[in-house]
Amino acid sequence: MLTVLLSSCSALTRLTSSLPASALLIAFVTWFFALHASASELTEQGQDIAQRLCAACHGLGRADRSPLSVAPAFRRIEPRVDLNEMVDRLQNGLVAGHPEMPIFVLKEQEARALVAYMRSLQVD
Ligand code: HEC
Repeated sequence: MLTVLLSSCSALTRLTSSLPASALLIAFVTWFFALHASASELTEQGQDIAQRLCAACHGLGRADRSPLSVAPAFRRIEPRVDLNEMVDRLQNGLVAGHPEMPIFVLKEQEARALVAYMRSLQVD
């Protein structure tokens, strides 16, 4: 077992030392920032959508109160609804079971963005 481990270790060392370490580092840093930039862009896009479509009734951001008091603030939506299902629900027509709320049908990308935004608000 130990010999297997040792030989795979030295194989790994040989492999990594044959690659220029700086190139690896640059690749990693680029990947890391690309990942984070796209995650926050998605959340920002979701915020725009929420602002446009939902803010008339639902409290956004850190707000615990909604303009329409019967509508739950997005910050506290999580125990009421499963955000994992929300991407699908938003594409298939989100029905809140409340006559005041219109039925929304969003494109997949918009639904993902809106859910990313809602997720970013949840109080733990
Ligand atoms: C015209 C007002 C209005 C708008 C605009 C509105 N909502 Fe609502 N929404 C409500 C009300 C009122 C409720 C509470 C329904 C209830 O308690 O049965 C609600 C409830 C919800 C719920 C909880 C549903 C559940 O199953 O408990 C979600 C999720 C939701 N809204 C998402 C959204 C999203 C996302 C948008 C924007 C795309 C939006 N709403 C826009 C009025 C609105």
